[in-house]
Amino acid sequence: MVRIGIAGAGAIAAIHVDAFKMFPEDVQVVAVADIFIDKAKALIDKRGRRAEAFGDIHEMIDKGGIDAVSICLPPSDHASVSLYAMDRGKHVLCEKPMASSLEECDAVIRSAEKNGVIFFPVCQNRFKTPIERVARLKEGGRLGKLLFGEFRSLWWRGENYYDIWWRGTWEKEAGGCFTSHAVHYIDLMVRLLGMPDSVRAVTTNVGHHNSECEDAGCAIFMYGSVPVVFISSLVTSGEPQSIHLDFEKASIDIPWSVSASTALPNGFPQEDEEGERAIDEAYHGIPELELEGHPAQLKAFIDTIEGRSQAAVDAADGRHTIELIMGIYLSSATGEKVTFPIGPDSPVYTTEGLVRTMPRFFRKTKSLDNFSTSEITLGRNIGK
Ligand SMILES: NC(=O)c1ccc[n+]([C@@H]2O[C@H](COP(=O)([O-])OP(=O)(O)OC[C@H]3O[C@@H](n4cnc5c(N)ncnc54)[C@H](O)[C@@H]3O)[C@@H](O)[C@H]2O)c1
Repeated sequence: MVRIGIAGAGAIAAIHVDAFKMFPEDVQVVAVADIFIDKAKALIDKRGRRAEAFGDIHEMIDKGGIDAVSICLPPSDHASVSLYAMDRGKHVLCEKPMASSLEECDAVIRSAEKNGVIFFPVCQNRFKTPIERVARLKEGGRLGKLLFGEFRSLWWRGENYYDIWWRGTWEKEAGGCFTSHAVHYIDLMVRLLGMPDSVRAVTTNVGHHNSECEDAGCAIFMYGSVPVVFISSLVTSGEPQSIHLDFEKASIDIPWSVSASTALPNGFPQEDEEGERAIDEAYHGIPELELEGHPAQLKAFIDTIEGRSQAAVDAADGRHTIELIMGIYLSSATGEKVTFPIGPDSPVYTTEGLVRTMPRFFRKTKSLDNFSTSEITLGRNIGK
């Protein structure tokens, strides 16, 4: 039985508690901490748990009788709390983004290794059937070489989304829509395609006047000579999120569809129905995941702690995503191509460097302690 402490009792914490509750034999939430202790108490009461409420995270880690901590805090606290917990032998599951700088990511990677504990960055979309199936088709050589790609991370948030105190500053949130939302699809890009060689990007803020950071942007990642276009926004009603990949043998989309073509004598396309059928059958032949999203990843975390499975993700996976986002920011600020990897000599390696490098699109003038509701949505289901 793994005893969990939840750090931060806001919107995503409720989703963690509900997910852990699905595995009563394996895990128990025994403590919840929030600077607003009433939020910790309310989360415990509302979810019908017997757990202790703390007003201080460090006290929960020291005295809460926990084996692992689930970090559901604003991004600027992710690394410091991870390091504090891991130095005390606690395993860590940390919400996205894993940290607010590459310097912090590197400290977390070193600490997990030094302390011999498990660190999972939350990247729940990896744990979805379509992603698993496409990854396996690609790895099995069913699709051939990649020729072109497009990731659409399009979301919608009202202006008041940025009224909460920690959102909309380079220092506390470490960026705008790329850090907060596209982080999911950038992680999926790395899962499916690996790390690119370089990026060129443009970012802007078109509709969120209480945020210093971007709310829309475009990036072009290069994988050798293959471009992968990545678009990100917080101004797109309906949130039409999708992945499109052109391979030698077929083009695929998530939500799932497949198209294949052969050339007529004049080079125009003719539908390759047989090719499409073969890939579609192979796709549906890969079993659906039993669990998806947060429940799947939280269960994988527990199973890894208990030695029942190998770590499905680790701190290096979380760092890859931050590295690509920092590449986007540096390119958008300088107008130059940025090549990977990004190391300590980069201007965006530290939070101070990021704050110095990036433009402030607007000044954050409004700051609330809490919203009146913590209802949230987790984006469009990327479908079966
Ligand atoms: N994986 C996902 O799909 C997903 C979805 C939403 C949010 N998130 C991530 O989860 C994290 C939290 O987001 P949220 O929407 O739950 O925010 P939130 O503001 O609703 O919750 C954060 C909570 O942390 C508490 N807190 C802040 N600083 C603290 C401190 N020093 N000590 C104790 N408590 C403190 C706040 O009082 C608040 O209750 C963010 O990093 C966000 O990016 C992930």
